[in-house]
Amino acid sequence: MTQRLYNKDAIYQNKLFDTTSLKIQKKKKYIILPGRLPPLDVEWISAVANSPAKDSGYTRTYYSYPAKFQAHLPNALISATTNPGNLVCDPYCGGGTSGLESLLISRRFVGYDINPFAILISHVKTTKLEVEKIFDILPEILRTRTIPSKSIFDDGDRECIGDYIANEIDSIACNIESYISNRSHKNFLKLALIHTIKLIGRRDFTEKMLKSKSLFDHLPSRSSIPIFEKKVKRMLLGMTTLPRPQYKPRFVCASNHNMKIEENSVDLIVTSPPYKDLDIEYGLIQLQRRELNRSKRSEVIFRILSVDPVAKDMLCGKKSDSYWKNLAGSVKECKRVLKIKHLALFWVGFKSELDQETFCDYLNKNGLSVEIIIPVRLGHDRVASSRSTHHGKETGMMKRDCLIVTRS
Ligand SMILES: C[S@@+](CC[C@H](N)C(=O)[O-])C[C@H]1O[C@@H](n2cnc3c(N)ncnc32)[C@H](O)[C@@H]1O
Repeated sequence: MTQRLYNKDAIYQNKLFDTTSLKIQKKKKYIILPGRLPPLDVEWISAVANSPAKDSGYTRTYYSYPAKFQAHLPNALISATTNPGNLVCDPYCGGGTSGLESLLISRRFVGYDINPFAILISHVKTTKLEVEKIFDILPEILRTRTIPSKSIFDDGDRECIGDYIANEIDSIACNIESYISNRSHKNFLKLALIHTIKLIGRRDFTEKMLKSKSLFDHLPSRSSIPIFEKKVKRMLLGMTTLPRPQYKPRFVCASNHNMKIEENSVDLIVTSPPYKDLDIEYGLIQLQRRELNRSKRSEVIFRILSVDPVAKDMLCGKKSDSYWKNLAGSVKECKRVLKIKHLALFWVGFKSELDQETFCDYLNKNGLSVEIIIPVRLGHDRVASSRSTHHGKETGMMKRDCLIVTRS
């Protein structure tokens, strides 16, 4: 990837540009990289960070994990700051964006996340499957109607989406468990099913969404099956383009406070930690029904995964002072595993100037010295109220997002 791929002027056109960060930026023109890599042009990083691009290609669009990276940013950063075969680590890997990008450019990768759903998405996006096998099994999973001993929906969920759809989804979930023995196939279909429930739960869910072609022509107008089929087929199409990896990324479902990674072995950390004092639904799905004037948070994801729900507070990195304590534990581990003089890049947003300063203090105190802070502009396709912008408009929730470049 050439460093001139992005439009330099984009940084100056960004209305959200923060002048404080600009001052810091002007001081530094280049970031020196370890090894024989050429120095990084700071203007180039700014241009990359401020040229939002809608994710597309490969398995990138399988599921939009809350507050996810826009894939072009980790891709450009990993390409420019490491060599093929180097080890990249994302201690808050979420839906596996940096893991997939590492796979695509032949870097070794290890990611940690405490959310089992994040780890499932990461595995599915980076595991090459034989498409025909899923195609073959699909009709059986959809045709056989099974009544499970326990529904994945509670009464409130059922009131929102209706018994007919709830029973259909229960049956598909049950069939995935009982008809499929291959774990990767199972995970693939579970992710497609969770995405289907997400679509069905949307406020703008209408019968129009249901009128797509199905293997079955006898379905009533309100059926979830055509949506599920369409999602599976789209995902399979993406799967055909996924290369066989030279290095299979490793994803671990555990806290990053105690990573099983050798000391001084990681070439680059690229990550997006939770944002302080923000409520993000990393594990719940919203089921909304305009006609019922109802909106409900459902724990269906954890039930489909057959795991205990993880407390929202934990996934969001805890609130107030506990947030800093939690962060310190992670930063210490990042410092331990990272090679001396190598970079750790944090993409994060802050509600206040003070939070940004405190965050940087924690990095500095724990051995990752902040070299530069670069503002990040988000794309119009962002549907994350967690971020500084929502569909391109400022949310007022965050001062802005930024990329903090640190060195061990
Ligand atoms: C902003 S998201 C990361 C999104 C990711 N960059 C992506 O592209 O999908 C932050 C993640 O940190 C995880 N997390 C929070 N505390 C953690 C901890 N102590 N150890 C590991 N993961 C943690 C959450 O579960 C969440 O998935």
